[in-house]
Amino acid sequence: MTEEHFRRRYFRLRTRVDRYLASLITERTPRQLHEACAYVLTGGGKRLRAALVLLAAEAVGGSTAKALPAGAAVEIMHNFTLVHDDIMDHARTRRGRPTVHVRWDLNTALLAGDTLLAVAYEQLLKTAVEDQEALLRLFTRSVIGVCEGQAFDLEFERRNDITVDDYFAMIDLKTGLLISVAAELGARIGGGSVRDVNRLSTFGRYLGRAFQLQDDLLDVVGDEKRFGKTIGGDILEGKRTFLLLTARERARKSDKVLLDRVLRRKTIPPARTESPAQRRELIATVRSLYDAYGVIRDTEAAVMRHTRRATGSLDTLPRTPAREMLHALARTLVHRET
Ligand code: IPE
Ligand code: IPE
Ligand code: MG
Ligand code: MG
Ligand code: MG
Repeated sequence: MTEEHFRRRYFRLRTRVDRYLASLITERTPRQLHEACAYVLTGGGKRLRAALVLLAAEAVGGSTAKALPAGAAVEIMHNFTLVHDDIMDHARTRRGRPTVHVRWDLNTALLAGDTLLAVAYEQLLKTAVEDQEALLRLFTRSVIGVCEGQAFDLEFERRNDITVDDYFAMIDLKTGLLISVAAELGARIGGGSVRDVNRLSTFGRYLGRAFQLQDDLLDVVGDEKRFGKTIGGDILEGKRTFLLLTARERARKSDKVLLDRVLRRKTIPPARTESPAQRRELIATVRSLYDAYGVIRDTEAAVMRHTRRATGSLDTLPRTPAREMLHALARTLVHRET
């Protein structure tokens, strides 16, 4: 499959998802709540999870049309987590626009998130399959798992005994699970065999790992305009990322002292007078340490490794255009900038 072919097909998938999500928006009261929901649903994004549902369905011989409401459900669920995640991470920008709690206020963001989660279920219930209960169970487990992962993410900010293994367990929950469930839902709706459903679920799990590693990397080396989020947010929040944990392990002397200061940001918060210039300087210094200790390079290698594991689990699926799309999607994500 050529890159051009992949891009065209992905664009069509994304447009289909965008249109479907836009069609769910109605002008209702309370105006502010529904405006905030519409703001989130029409704000773009890669639509990765919805695309996975559709492509997984197709990869096992099913129809993408039948999988579309479930694709929307997963995408809406993902958007709910983003709205609440931005509150927890004190993030002011997403997809190049103010976050919901900044554009409106905290309570609006909480309620918009809650509403979106319910709308996600509403969509999932539209899926006409024999064992709908199984889909609902799977989806519900992923919602709980993401919340657990997010709770670990926050708990880790204040702990000094977090290992790289802990990090992977945390991202498997907060990010990998929903991506894996997206692929699994698609495969089930498409009527895939147990083996194919498992393969696609495994594909999603590794892809999710690669995806979060890459997100953590882009948080440091990304271009703010393209990425659409504030660069260095994870450093300012003292997030235990693969990068920070690996750098801390390797750092010597004064570098170690500096990274320890980053690790303590939530237990001994920086002076309230910390200026934007000081923050920028801290981010630049940490980034140069990541470079100096080979952490950027090794994170890129880890992204590649997990991506290869993901694509490897597709190898035993029937050779179809949808399988090629999933393969190309995973490969393309390695070079993503957004
Ligand atoms: C951001 O997800 C949150 C993570 C799990 C890293 P995406 O990067 O898929 O966000 P959008 O939907 O494309 O904006
Ligand atoms: C988010 O991880 C994972 C979610 C489940 C929302 P991040 O906190 O790194 O996501 P971004 O970078 O804000 O999108
Ligand atoms: Mg977060
Ligand atoms: Mg965040
Ligand atoms: Mg991030």
